[in-house]
Amino acid sequence: MATTTYQGLQVLYTREQIAARVAEMGVQIARDLNGERLVMVGVLKGAAPFLADLARAVQIDATFDFVAVSSYGKGHRSSGAVKLIKDLDETVEGKNVLIVEDILDTGLTLSYLRKIILAQRPKSLRIATLLDKPSRRIEKIDADYVGFSIPNLFVIGYGMDYAERYRNLPDICLMTPDHPE
Ligand code: IMP
Repeated sequence: MATTTYQGLQVLYTREQIAARVAEMGVQIARDLNGERLVMVGVLKGAAPFLADLARAVQIDATFDFVAVSSYGKGHRSSGAVKLIKDLDETVEGKNVLIVEDILDTGLTLSYLRKIILAQRPKSLRIATLLDKPSRRIEKIDADYVGFSIPNLFVIGYGMDYAERYRNLPDICLMTPDHPE
């Protein structure tokens, strides 16, 4: 399946594959909530397209909030340090919370966010990630809902960036080290 985009990037998951999987995740999340309300917490900026699509696939009473953490920096490597740049607008005490993330990689970001959200004593806390790279894990953490589990590849598109670029690609593509920037 050697599909490439107009920019010569190799497509890992097409927009159709993403839409089908996100729809399935939405059904599963709604089923698990049993008609209860949900606060969807998107992790800026990468999770914005995923949250927008997932929210419309979850057919329940849901509200949004957003957090932002220190990002991956300008290249392929994480600094390892996670810092909160934007906190929740409202407390989630007593509420059902779903953290919505683009990629679960080392687990540092989600472990940190889980800790600060659990400190507010939500009724429940679950994690949805579009992509999971289990082989990269440093912190022991699993998502409750995973779109696609992938090997150690660097991906871009559908919210995910390389030095802030490519977030608006509709498909999830592979960023190869030899790609011209
Ligand atoms: P973690 O803290 O290592 O789990 O990293 C999570 C964050 O790293 C994600 O939210 C992304 O912003 C970023 N990240 C990890 N892998 C990739 C990738 O392949 N492409 C783009 N961003 C990535």
